[in-house]
This record gives sequence, C-alpha cells and structure tokens, in this order.
Amino acid sequence: MDHFQLKNGELHAEDVPMSRIAEEFGTPVYVYSRATLERHARVFREALTPLGKIHLAFAVKSNPNLAVLRVMQREGFGADVVSGGELARALAAGMPASDIVFSGVGKTTREMMQGLDVGIGQFNIESEEEGVELARIADAAGRTAHCALRVNPDIDAGTHEKISTGKSDNKFGVPIDQAAGMYARLSALPGLDMRGLAVHIGSQLSDLAPLEEAFAKVGALMADIRAAGFTVTHVDLGGGLGVPYKAGEVMPSPAEYGAMVARATKGWDVTLMFEPGRVIAGNAGVLLTEVIRVKRNANRDPFVIVDAAMNDLARPALYGAWHDFDAVEPTGQRMTANIVGPICETGDTFAMGREMDALEAGDLAVFRTAGAYGATMASSYNSRGFVAEVMVDGDRVASVADRILPEDIYAAERVPEWLD
Ligand code: LLP
Repeated sequence: MDHFQLKNGELHAEDVPMSRIAEEFGTPVYVYSRATLERHARVFREALTPLGKIHLAFAVKSNPNLAVLRVMQREGFGADVVSGGELARALAAGMPASDIVFSGVGKTTREMMQGLDVGIGQFNIESEEEGVELARIADAAGRTAHCALRVNPDIDAGTHEKISTGKSDNKFGVPIDQAAGMYARLSALPGLDMRGLAVHIGSQLSDLAPLEEAFAKVGALMADIRAAGFTVTHVDLGGGLGVPYKAGEVMPSPAEYGAMVARATKGWDVTLMFEPGRVIAGNAGVLLTEVIRVKRNANRDPFVIVDAAMNDLARPALYGAWHDFDAVEPTGQRMTANIVGPICETGDTFAMGREMDALEAGDLAVFRTAGAYGATMASSYNSRGFVAEVMVDGDRVASVADRILPEDIYAAERVPEWLD
C-alpha cells in the first residue's frame, strides 16, 4: 500500500498534486511519501515483534537521504551502513551509534577507525583478514569492536545475478563450512567481541524458501559454535524482501516473512537483527518526469522521450528492471511505446513496447517504486547534474535534496595552469 493515488483525475503524493510539485521544484524530481515510509516501517516492525528481542536497521544504501533516514530514526530504526559516508549520514540523521551495523567486504582502516571512534553497535565481518585487521586497530585504540561473522551459505536466492549475494562464488561472507573455525580464532583476538552471525543472500527476493534454507544453515552453525564453547547472542538475518514493481505482482508479505523467521529461528535465544531497505523505501517514492517529445517513426512503436534518464534512475539500464510508468493525468487513452531518456546511448531505455497511458509532449508521468535504489544510484553522466528530491507529508511538500546543477559539479574541477 502506498500513498501515490489518483484524486480528481490527477496523481497525488498523499494530498499534494504532482503538477504542484513539478511547478514548484521542476522535473525530473524524486518524490517521497512520509506516510508510506512510516506505514512500511510499522508493518515490518509489527510482523517481527512476536519474535521477541529484535533490532531493526534500515539499509541506508537503499535511500540515504537525510530526511528519509530521519523518518526511520523516528520509527526507532537504526542503520545498516556500508561506508564511512553512510555512517556519517546515519549519525547526522540522529541515529544512535549503538544502533548502527557496519557491513561490507571492503571496509578500509579509516572506516574501521571511524566506526570504533563513534562506538557503533556492530561490525559485520566478511573475512578472517578483515577480523584480524579490525582486532589490531581496536586493540591499539583501546576499544572493543562488537562483531558478527557474515557467512555465505551458498544458496541461490533466485534473484537477478547482480544482486544475488549468497552463492559461494559471490564475494560476500565467509564459506559456511569454515565459519566455526574462524569464529573460534577471531574470538581469541583482543579488541574483538565476537557476539554473533550474519547472513544476507540477496535483494528483491520473491521466494522465502531460499531464505529459510539459509537461516536453517545459520542455526546449525550457531549450534556448533555454541557447542564449542563460544557465545552467540545476536544473529543478523539481513534484508532482501522483494516488493511489487508491476501492478498486480504479488510478493511475500512482511507477515509471511515474519512467520517464516519465527519458524526458522525457534529456540535460538538471540537478538534477531534485520536490515530491510527496499521493502521500506521502494514503494514510498516515485520519479516524476515530463515528456519532452514523442518521436513517431513509420511502422514502429513511438519513442516517448522523457526528461529523466538512466543517470537518474539506473535500475532499468543496469538490471533490465521494470518500473511501472503512469501518466499524472490519465485520459483513459492507451498507447504502446518505447520509453527512453535523452542520454546518448541505447542503454538509456526505461521500457520497450510498453502498454501505457497515452502521453504527449509536456505531459507529466511517474516511474513508480523508485524510492529505493533510485536517487542514490544516480550519476552525472552526460553532464546532467543530480535531480532534486522532495518529501510530502499530508498537504505539505519540502525539498529534501536540492537539484545539483552541472555547473555545481564542474566547479570542483580544475584546469592546471600548465594547460593554459
Ligand atoms: N543488507 C545487506 C548486507 C545488503 O547487501 C543489502 C542490499 C541489504 C541489507 C538491503 O537489501 P534490501 O532489503 O534492500 O533488499 N541496487 C540494487 C539492489 C542492491 C542491494 C544491495 N544490498 C537494485 O537496485 O535492485
């Protein structure tokens, strides 16, 4: 359920007509709905509350906008971060350091220091080498790093290969059959407090079975580790729950996910940690765009050329992802068209042969489900700048990220004097 609905023939974000947003902020622009974010946060929390001790960490990578993070902070979520930049954002949004989990295979020495300095809640270690380095740094600084060991359960999550993370040939986590030995060795190091395990097998998961299988493997590993005399008090089950991108598409609900987790983790006696991103933010945002022109070629579907491009919303170009595309003021007329941006490469295609609302130059339309992995994956390719982001709350709308113009970007570039 989201709050982007037609009212009086015009698509609204909550109570704000899209045409008002376009007028005030220009296009393309990302539009987030506070009520939708809150609803998703609450539905997710409610589905997991019966599990007992839980910790919810919003996956900052899905939408790192400070206002979005503040909404999540107000909902009592901590943060799952994967870089020093994300860590700084989570803190800037008011998330307590103790609620922050640091994931990622390539944490630098500097990032480890940054996390230790502010006292983050947990490092999810992705290799023995990383654990050894973290122990050395923490010990030298007189600090303790609370850690979970991320395991790779070698399970095919059944999602797009570029966002699958739990197969043994993926770079993530440590091989599950070596994890118990590693856990024991890392537990012996000064500076580390090995307190748990972590797993995340992929994103946009439409099937709960691979997740359940992964959790079962983690449960068995936990039993082995405990039997060897080590402590496991926390298990981080990652994120990954998919969302519908197409009208009518059905995904496992948070309630079904919660029921599966309850089954899989029965008797574990740990704090269960979660790192949802897309399921919270995905359908809480749209990318509002204007049709520049419709290019008609004989015997072909027309090209609807919009002012948003692959640099603003990369998912279709990167993963062949589908985003529903709807007119802001649908007339009831339909057309079949190719939806493309202005960038000079064929990859700048949002959809081919799409059955869609009929549109003409100057019309507004939205790409739906753009609240996660949308603005954050933007680039400035073709010197297009970064689009603005706004958040709606009832009948209010505020800029939550100013548009960054090409001239703002090249202001940071220099021509050395020896090129004069
Ligand atoms: N935890 C870890 C360790 C992750 O790697 C990810 C996502 C998440 C949590 C959050 O997963 P979610 O709940 O959002 O599925 N750019 C891609 C998605 C990349 C996901 C990367 N990791 C896309 O646009 O589909």
